[in-house]
Amino acid sequence: MITYVDATSKSRRSPGIIPLHGEEGFAGMRKAGQLTAEALDILTDYVEAGVPTATLDRIAYEFARDHGAVPATIFYKGYRHSLCTSLNHVVCHGIPDDRPLREGDIVNIDLTLVVDGWHGDSSRMYPVGEISRKAERLIEVTYAGLEAGIAAARPGNTTGDIGAAIQTIAEAERMSVVRDFVGHGLGRLFHDEPNILHFGTPGSGVPLKPGMIFTIEPMINLGRPHVKILSDGWTAVTRDRTLSAQCEHSIGITETGCEIFTLSPKGLFNPLAARSGQ
Ligand code: MF3
Ligand code: CO
Ligand code: CO
Repeated sequence: MITYVDATSKSRRSPGIIPLHGEEGFAGMRKAGQLTAEALDILTDYVEAGVPTATLDRIAYEFARDHGAVPATIFYKGYRHSLCTSLNHVVCHGIPDDRPLREGDIVNIDLTLVVDGWHGDSSRMYPVGEISRKAERLIEVTYAGLEAGIAAARPGNTTGDIGAAIQTIAEAERMSVVRDFVGHGLGRLFHDEPNILHFGTPGSGVPLKPGMIFTIEPMINLGRPHVKILSDGWTAVTRDRTLSAQCEHSIGITETGCEIFTLSPKGLFNPLAARSGQ
């Protein structure tokens, strides 16, 4: 039995050992992933100008509580919130606060719900009202990058094939891939082996095997890839203050490809596709 506290402590991660999960793990991840996706769906209705990100955080917290789940980020290395809310030039780990969202903002909401000990980790972009064409393009490319990464996630390929696929998409549009944060194995642990780089060389890294469970969560910048961490110790921003976007799924490698655990029940994962009625 692994307790919640154990699951968030670093010590249970065995360096270099990539867990292979069976049907029990896939079933657990399906349930956690679906609940996380449902919460992210519900948040779509609340993201609008005037709403503070702290309100979104409270909604996510109450949703978790009402569904027998725990947000993995509460008490994680001193973090105290259910969500990360990363606005505009914030790359990731933005802290929910009382500042109201404004028309034209783009915000990533990242949520990890723990259900029966399994971690469902997913994030999406949410446009606030009408957004600029360049913000739209950034979001489109970030989603295309995640899709290309997922398409490369199958036995016979390596972790480097995933990164290479994402990097190719971003750089073809003269955007850049953030290096400082990576996808990660997960399951009963929030962050486990392997690391999933969102850039790299085809064939590098470790071979993908059925039973591996991890996230792919590319962060793409309109400008340079470099980030800095603000004095709160969490918020990562682009050094050149250009816009940044991210999206994240939790997946499991199967015999033939992969299963996505965090698909949106309402088809709202890609906000721009959802808007245009696709
Ligand atoms: N959910 C994030 C991830 O994708 C991790 C957030 S950790 C926090 O791995 F403490 F910043 F919330
Ligand atoms: Co993650
Ligand atoms: Co996440």
